Amino acid sequence: MAAEAGPISKVLIVIAMQKEATPLVHKFNLVEAPAHQSTFPKGAPWVWYHGSYKGLHIDLVLPGMDAVLGVDSVGTVPVAVVTSFSIQTLKPDLIINAGTAGGFKAKGASITDVFLASDVAFHDRRIPIPVGKLSTGDSLDMCPQDKELILRNDATIKDMEGAAVAYVADMFSTPAIFVKAVTDIVDGVKPTYEEFLQNLIAVTTALELAVTKVVDFISGKRISDL
Ligand code: ADE
Repeated sequence: MAAEAGPISKVLIVIAMQKEATPLVHKFNLVEAPAHQSTFPKGAPWVWYHGSYKGLHIDLVLPGMDAVLGVDSVGTVPVAVVTSFSIQTLKPDLIINAGTAGGFKAKGASITDVFLASDVAFHDRRIPIPVGKLSTGDSLDMCPQDKELILRNDATIKDMEGAAVAYVADMFSTPAIFVKAVTDIVDGVKPTYEEFLQNLIAVTTALELAVTKVVDFISGKRISDL
């Protein structure tokens, strides 16, 4: 891996929702790549921003809007395909998957807390895998069976992309960091969807501050320093 020879120079930030990405696009002064510059396949709704920040080249990609439903393409499949293509074409030294997550108050999570995940796992694959602290599945809500599997993963937070990014990053031997800000308490009393929407904008500010701290920390370092 090139990054092991010298300081990290290329960081790929992968984010699912435009509302999560916009504060970081502004913070790092990123610009959207015009269509003629983009190597994305025709028809892919993916969005690509890029720029320089503190000596790092930053690419930020989103899976984009679902053409039929007109909403952000959240979940594991869209994020896996855009991450796979972006790793191969943009050749990052390091990936940051940033986003929001549900948090378990029983594990100490509160709204606007930001977690650096220590481990990542899927919870809706019925395959025994080592436990993870960030548990990923394709649903915002949590049915009883998912709850059992998430608790078995010993998760403090629950999202819809992390384990998919981890899977692709691992496939291409690219290190990845997971930064997740809590919008809703999964084991609380409020309906998840309402609490998520109520807190989304405020929490993206916490996410922006946390990702900035991570990127500031990375600047000038080698992968082996992390
Ligand atoms: N993103 C934000 N809140 C979430 C939740 N409760 N489950 C999955 N992803 C989320």
